Amino acid sequence: MANKTRAAITGVHGWVPEDKLTNFDLEKMVDTNDEWIISRTGIKERRILRKPGWATSDMCAEAVKGLLEKTGTKPGEIDLLIVATVTGDLVFPDTANTVCDKIGAKNAFGFDINAACSGFLFSLATGAQYIANETYSKVIVVGSDMMSSIVDYEDRNTCIIFGDGAAAVMLEPRRDGNGIQDFVLRGDGAGREFLHMKAGGSKQPSTAETVANREHFVYQEGKRVFKFAVEGMVGTTSELLRRNKLTIDELDWMIPHQANMRIINAVAEHLHFPMEKVTINIDKYGNTTAATLPLCMWEYEKRFKKGDNIILTAFGGGFTWGSLYLKWAY
Ligand code: UT7
Repeated sequence: MANKTRAAITGVHGWVPEDKLTNFDLEKMVDTNDEWIISRTGIKERRILRKPGWATSDMCAEAVKGLLEKTGTKPGEIDLLIVATVTGDLVFPDTANTVCDKIGAKNAFGFDINAACSGFLFSLATGAQYIANETYSKVIVVGSDMMSSIVDYEDRNTCIIFGDGAAAVMLEPRRDGNGIQDFVLRGDGAGREFLHMKAGGSKQPSTAETVANREHFVYQEGKRVFKFAVEGMVGTTSELLRRNKLTIDELDWMIPHQANMRIINAVAEHLHFPMEKVTINIDKYGNTTAATLPLCMWEYEKRFKKGDNIILTAFGGGFTWGSLYLKWAY
């Protein structure tokens, strides 16, 4: 239906810290090596936020300021701003409200969505509803995580994977058939066992003991998560293709969560999806959790064409996962 109102991405902008943490730096911190990290994950370096006093909201604000400039939008025009993150500035209030304040979005309201690595996908689907039902006309969705604030740099299983960054998209109504077409989102709370942070929440409030026990860091059983990640992303993408009667040949791009190059390869292989149509920047940024999908969009923006059929897919802590189908709008 060409004249149906759809939420379309009308701009994207990212921001990453200048400081790099390379595999060679990590070799000096834990018992690992460049060859192992590249062959097991595809990551060469990640960005780390080391600006004193800066946090997730500052990365979001930088990405959003760039987005506003690029799309010719005034802060006062924004209706809603959603931040996908697991590393909000504070336990409360939410980071989205802080970002609205920092960018001067006086007419907006905001909220955070915590769905780990699927956070941007869930937030994009949520923000799109306000546009598709014609409640609002300018919604910003930001994916941002400062993973360096919750990574244990003494744990070689996790510290090699994660990095920091932010990227934001503008959602506006379009009636030309382009925009967000459909999505399949899933969750399975039983997966929390394999990927979580032990302390700092109401289940285990912070104490001197939780700090001493290093319980304020990401805990991950990598192998288990790997298996569920491949199955999850292949499953929801297949379902989305089936119900939209799309063949792989009709797709122009797949934007997968950047957690591990071997996961990306396995998903593409299972779907018979050609790797030259898969967006990849894991080598430069590692796993930035909620920021991976919009950072990929930002990097590949110039290669996307109006009307391109694009699939986004992600898997993360929760477990949470899903896939979203959109037609690029510009
Ligand atoms: O983003 C949200 C969801 N997260 C993911 O999707 C991540 C999914 N998991 C992964 O990406 C991978 O499981 C990891 C990259 C975390 C680990 O790779 P793996 O191939 O699953 O390695 P492993 O945990 O099975 O470890 C294999 C071996 C072990 O040694 P032994 O027991 O065989 O002697 C580890 O101790 O590699 C060892 N190892 C390392 N060696 C060098 C683990 N980490 C390192 C390291 N450097 N950094």
